[in-house]
Amino acid sequence: MTTPAGPPVAVVTGAGGGLGAVTATMLGELGLAVACVDIDEVAAKRTATELGNNGVASAAYGVDITSESAAGSLVDAVHADLGQVSHLVNIAGILRRTHLADTTADSWRQVMDVNVTAPFLLTQAFADDLKAAEYGRVINCASFAGTRGYEYPAYAASKAALINLTSSLMFDFWGTAVTVNAVAPGAMVTPMLDRPAAERMAAKTPTGRILDPDDVAAVIGFLAGRTSRGVNGTTTVIDGGASLLFSYK
Ligand SMILES: NC(=O)c1ccc[n+]([C@@H]2O[C@H](COP(=O)([O-])OP(=O)(O)OC[C@H]3O[C@@H](n4cnc5c(N)ncnc54)[C@H](O)[C@@H]3O)[C@@H](O)[C@H]2O)c1
Repeated sequence: MTTPAGPPVAVVTGAGGGLGAVTATMLGELGLAVACVDIDEVAAKRTATELGNNGVASAAYGVDITSESAAGSLVDAVHADLGQVSHLVNIAGILRRTHLADTTADSWRQVMDVNVTAPFLLTQAFADDLKAAEYGRVINCASFAGTRGYEYPAYAASKAALINLTSSLMFDFWGTAVTVNAVAPGAMVTPMLDRPAAERMAAKTPTGRILDPDDVAAVIGFLAGRTSRGVNGTTTVIDGGASLLFSYK
């Protein structure tokens, strides 16, 4: 008798936040088990509990993803709770609203650590799992700000680095069934961006509306699926067309 294989397992960072929670829910609806990772353990547990209530295998991990040792421990914990990982979805991110003059070196490093070093460390930690999966997926959450300049330089530079990391890492998975892609959202109402700011930006957007996290999760859902196998190393901008025309300042 053979044991039936369990569902594919996704690790979602920032799963307690606005886009992360919606993405975790969407992946659960697609039939994946979901490891909900967030520095805010209460928020990660809230998402995992909601998934569990809907019959999705899930677990919560209160982890600071910038810690190198935490990445190794997370691999062991997810293996024990849910099994081998097929999908790594790096959603966690921070925005510091500072300009050149008031960005300290510590703040610059913190933004880089969360937004780009952590996705690098986690991809490294889960690489063997991803390669062993029937089809592995790494999906990074960048930002429109990473595709062009933005008034907050640390954030924009970190997201530009993440976009480049996305296309560079595909070389490490050469010849495997693993793809690495990114999404680059425009303004979305989440705890990161308040409604007045998002409405100001929406006024500059050709579609005339503020993005919902659902709009971004829908693209992540496509990238997470088997049928996206021809898409690799790309960044999909999801901003209603705004960044083609204007700066968000
Ligand atoms: N909201 C927007 O307008 C917008 C636009 C473009 C891109 N994004 C990107 O979308 C992603 C999700 O952002 P959001 O809008 O949902 O914001 P959010 O603040 O609601 O979610 C971010 C989550 O990341 C978690 N996090 C932060 N630092 C962490 C760490 N060191 N370890 C583990 N978890 C950590 C936070 O606790 C939070 O739950 C981010 O990468 C962000 O840069 C957001």
